[in-house]
Amino acid sequence: MLKISRLTVEHLAEGCVTDRPDPEVSFRLMSDRKNVTLKQARISVNGWSVKTDSQILIPYRGNKLQPFTEYQVRVEAEDNTGEKAQAETVFETGRMETPWKAEWITDGEYSFTDKKVSPVPMMFRKKFKCIRKVKEAKIYASALGIYELIVNGKKAGDRYFAPGFTSYRHEMQYQVYDVTDMLSGDNTLTAVVSGGWAVGSFVFTRVNRHDADRQAFLAELRITYEDGMQEVIGTDDSWEVTEDGPYRMADIYDGETYDASVDVEKIPWRKAAPEKLRFVPDLRADYSSPVRAHEEMHPVARTKLADGTLIYDFGQNFAGVIKLKIQGKKGQVITVRHAEILNKDGSLNVEFLRTAKATAAYTCRDGQQEYSPRFTYMGFRYASVSGISEENIEVSALALYSDIEKIGGFTCSDEMLNRLQKNIIWSSRSNFVEIPTDCPQRDERMGWTGDIAVFAPTACFNFDISRFIKKWLIDVRAEQLPTGGIPNTVPAQGYGFPATMPAMAVDWWGDACVLVPWAQYMAQGDIQVLKDMYPVMKKYVKACRFWAGFGVGKHRYIWNTPSVLHFGDWVAPDVPKMSQWQKRSKWTATASLYNTSRITAMTADILGEKEDAEYFKKLSDKVADAYVSVFTDGKGKMKEEFQTAYVLPLWFKMFPEDAQKKAAENLAQLAGRSDYCIGTGFPGTPYILFALADNGQEETAFKMLMNTKCPSWLYEVKSGATTIWERWDGLDENGECPISDDGTDMMISYNHYASGAVGAFLYERIAGIQAIEPGYRTFRIRPLAGGGITSARGSTDSPYGKIVSDWKIEEGIFSLDIEVPAGTKCAVTLPDGTTSEYGSGNWHLSCPYNQK
Ligand code: BGC
Repeated sequence: MLKISRLTVEHLAEGCVTDRPDPEVSFRLMSDRKNVTLKQARISVNGWSVKTDSQILIPYRGNKLQPFTEYQVRVEAEDNTGEKAQAETVFETGRMETPWKAEWITDGEYSFTDKKVSPVPMMFRKKFKCIRKVKEAKIYASALGIYELIVNGKKAGDRYFAPGFTSYRHEMQYQVYDVTDMLSGDNTLTAVVSGGWAVGSFVFTRVNRHDADRQAFLAELRITYEDGMQEVIGTDDSWEVTEDGPYRMADIYDGETYDASVDVEKIPWRKAAPEKLRFVPDLRADYSSPVRAHEEMHPVARTKLADGTLIYDFGQNFAGVIKLKIQGKKGQVITVRHAEILNKDGSLNVEFLRTAKATAAYTCRDGQQEYSPRFTYMGFRYASVSGISEENIEVSALALYSDIEKIGGFTCSDEMLNRLQKNIIWSSRSNFVEIPTDCPQRDERMGWTGDIAVFAPTACFNFDISRFIKKWLIDVRAEQLPTGGIPNTVPAQGYGFPATMPAMAVDWWGDACVLVPWAQYMAQGDIQVLKDMYPVMKKYVKACRFWAGFGVGKHRYIWNTPSVLHFGDWVAPDVPKMSQWQKRSKWTATASLYNTSRITAMTADILGEKEDAEYFKKLSDKVADAYVSVFTDGKGKMKEEFQTAYVLPLWFKMFPEDAQKKAAENLAQLAGRSDYCIGTGFPGTPYILFALADNGQEETAFKMLMNTKCPSWLYEVKSGATTIWERWDGLDENGECPISDDGTDMMISYNHYASGAVGAFLYERIAGIQAIEPGYRTFRIRPLAGGGITSARGSTDSPYGKIVSDWKIEEGIFSLDIEVPAGTKCAVTLPDGTTSEYGSGNWHLSCPYNQK
């Protein structure tokens, strides 16, 4: 029987509220038959319907959608065997540009001028009566700052950090809350607004007031009564405001201070004032994957220091907040600090948090109470609790991250690799908090572009990041410089470029504007993301080409601006100093230009921009030729050898064919000379195993992957890592951090996903799952065994459904079970080289196998 197993609007199976004029519909098919494909489907919405043979992201093209309206979506599908299925869902429109019957309000008497801290949280309040019976009530709200909405004492919605982190002056989100069941006769709407990213201190320079001088709040409650009457209650000067509420301090880095002994009925409230913002926000219904609380984490151990401080170990590094159940006394202060590692004496190591205080301080009222911060988050495995004895407190924690659905999994016969995969997952969760961040703990948590540029393909195997990443790409597009460069952190929030880097194009980091949309397109078949980002890619690559074009002859294609303008082979462990990573920028930048121009050429081709496609293709050819001519002997040997210098041209296929193989041999020898330890920084790490394995050096690739000597992926695992480290040598054999004055200001985080980019190798080579067409409409399964691994299972949900590759080696037989989703085709290659094609369904294959 044919079934529609999933139907989504704007990537959401339910709860979609959108302001888009052309929401996109996708659906998956499931059948108990094999070899099923879609023959035709009809999608109907609002009297409009379209016949299609596509299942992915079909845009609505009917009459203009009306605001505040629920629309039915109906899909009728027929497969190639004549079976039929249908499904329905709904989506709702938001304001669709309806003018607000509300004004931005603030506390007109609050002047916030302090430096490097966040403002005192503001509380707004409105009391009102409903005399009639409420049929439906919805609140539309946003803020400059982070807000929480409380209706009659209960939080509306389960989102953290509303309105979300965007490039506020370009685009802001508002949220929609259905509060029908929360209203009664006498009502109080309360909103707490902290400084957040817009007003609070953010980026490591701790600058504040990026987007506004103080917090501002906007809300509109729209009530429809049973008798048909409508009422709108908007923010205006009839609201009250105070800074004397229980939230005494809230800051992304420093934490939160809460005083539960404050009685909000007894504090002074004054009239709120209308606020004139610095810019007119372009407000759109929340188009993100909002941050929510996911796993509840429980301590695996507790110790007590001599001074009575309790140390809780959660057994897992993550981003989130603690959750306390307390038996307290009025005025008693409980202080919680957070850290990723411990000092030798068992206390928290907070040194690497730099200026981030990462502290939650709670003043009790009498009796049983619960507390969990709402306006901050921390990256931690350990929490210290002082001011209370262990019998009077129960400590757990909530993992907070954007609502990205986990769609992938990788397990194999090697437990250390399984832990590595888990670490990749946890570092993704920890750093997908509103925007793709570098780390969740110290005074950064910024949208560093280079990190996601290299990590995006791995992220796409493990999670459906569609909404999350498309939201961020809107900001990338908005913040592109007129010259074509992309800030190194997006949203830049007053940073974007270090002092050494005038606002220009920066290789690998700026490459995010090319590599991230490309990864999303390949994983999800999302052509719109390419259309949206193409102008940005084009402008960016032209900027890169400009900066590379200063030499003479072939050097016109070598990007050789001073190394301080680049990050180079960032965190390469084979050289000790930051300046040495940067010195490798000649190689990394030139290879980046090759890669971005090649992908931009492919994109232009897909979008029918033939002339552009030719221009960028020619450019990439010239760059490849220059790289090989200038940096190598022409026969596959680098004049100056280091791993990344080989990896990039090998993986990107910049070498002429005969030199390619030789180069892989040279890379393998180089790796052998370092005992198969890793020597790559951000640019080389994602590709080194591919560069080796795809060019006849599988054995070396597996030796590097399975290596447990420092630096290597499994050294971290052996050292007890539960997330991916920023630096390969984050802890030495004695469990101590060896990082000293290397020019990075003690830059070591234990939760940085960048080098977890090796995850793509686990899926694409070991499990062997690889998209041929975007969205896996056709794909390959070609498992690669090695490194003593005797079984592996990789799975990922393509937009068509689940793909599985599950293999084992037993008694000289390699057997493979695969799952191919309806609507797709898979080319399977077994280790004996035989290739065959499979349509949808579950299949079993095998061949003889001699394990080396
Ligand atoms: C961040 C990195 C980032 C880098 C850029 C660091 O401080 O944590 O992940 O990409 O700076 O150089």
